[in-house]
Amino acid sequence: MRVAIANDHAATELKFQVKEYLESKGYEVINFGTDTGDSCNYPEFGEAVGKAVVSGEADKGVLICGTGVGISIAANKVKGVRAVVCSEPVTARLSKMHNDSNIVAFGARIVGFETAKAILDAFFDTEYEGGRHQRRIDMIYEIEERQ
Ligand code: RB5
Repeated sequence: MRVAIANDHAATELKFQVKEYLESKGYEVINFGTDTGDSCNYPEFGEAVGKAVVSGEADKGVLICGTGVGISIAANKVKGVRAVVCSEPVTARLSKMHNDSNIVAFGARIVGFETAKAILDAFFDTEYEGGRHQRRIDMIYEIEERQ
């Protein structure tokens, strides 16, 4: 499992904790930055991880900003991305089961490392159910094609 990860300046410390955690679980982590606390712009980081996932460079993505919102909105502009913002693990689990989410996002100003780990475990340990959900995923693809 290759995981693309990125963050803005609000989340650098949590990103490194998360990176180490994912590596301890055996995942290969591709870090797209930022690696400092210097002010930067979350859209570029959301786009980078979105493109890495859609291109197949990575299997899944993790995005962290202050709230998880801005960086996930940016990632969701990349065709084929289904990024979900979570502040608890149930949403992460259900978004994999029903929405086939391919990027999980959360906020460093919203969740601590323990909750982040629970969200990551739910996201990575859950499979997409397919079946009746695929028709709705296909409808999302159709929206993208109409843009
Ligand atoms: C940066 O201050 C903050 O706006 C950003 O991290 C994020 O929360 C945006 O959604």
